[in-house]
Amino acid sequence: MKIKNKNLSDKSKKWLKRHLSDKYVKLSKDNSYRSRAAFKLIEIIDKYKVLKSAQSVIDLGAAPGSWSEVLVERIKSPKKIIAIDLLHLDPLPGVEIIQGDFTSTKFETYIETLSPFDLVISDISPNLSGNKTADFLRMQESIEVAMDISLKSLSKGGHFVAKYFRTGDMSHLITLAKRNFSKVSSFKPDSSRKESSEIYLICLNKKN
Ligand SMILES: C[S@@+](CC[C@H](N)C(=O)[O-])C[C@H]1O[C@@H](n2cnc3c(N)ncnc32)[C@H](O)[C@@H]1O
Repeated sequence: MKIKNKNLSDKSKKWLKRHLSDKYVKLSKDNSYRSRAAFKLIEIIDKYKVLKSAQSVIDLGAAPGSWSEVLVERIKSPKKIIAIDLLHLDPLPGVEIIQGDFTSTKFETYIETLSPFDLVISDISPNLSGNKTADFLRMQESIEVAMDISLKSLSKGGHFVAKYFRTGDMSHLITLAKRNFSKVSSFKPDSSRKESSEIYLICLNKKN
């Protein structure tokens, strides 16, 4: 496929070409999902059965909302589905949307009042500065807060799924996960771009 628009830089043309030929972009359009990210959660649900008997779920870093769309579609008898993001999310029937920073004490406290949850999912991608060390520290802070929320608000037997990036040492977090969940693994969905360092931490069956 040749992109002819002369106003685009070579980098933008390359991105557009890859985007237009991406099978998950096409699938997300065919299925009317807000983004191709929907398929990452679908793969996780199908492989790890994290929605089996789940009724209450919180989606951290939810915009534009495709993971929440999948939750609405797949949860048989939902009690509450909460979506939180720094950015605005268009309304989604069946989902309570909160706009704000989930790492702020105010929101952490509020989230606790909404608990317990059967599943906490986090697809957080902090805004990147380009400085690898600073970006890794921000990403690490986000996943640590997400883990903290899961430990405080999941019911016994609940699950936690969170994106992280393979750009630094996550051993401390994985040790914490293993202490608190019966089964812990990492999973790279087929729909996650090969060149992306993102990977998902899957923590099953919170111990107590
Ligand atoms: C990759 S997107 C999530 C895509 C989403 N799972 C979907 O399927 O539509 C990551 C999101 O994390 C959000 N984010 C990053 N830091 C955040 C924070 N501290 N609090 C809330 N949202 C945050 C960003 O605004 C962004 O929308």
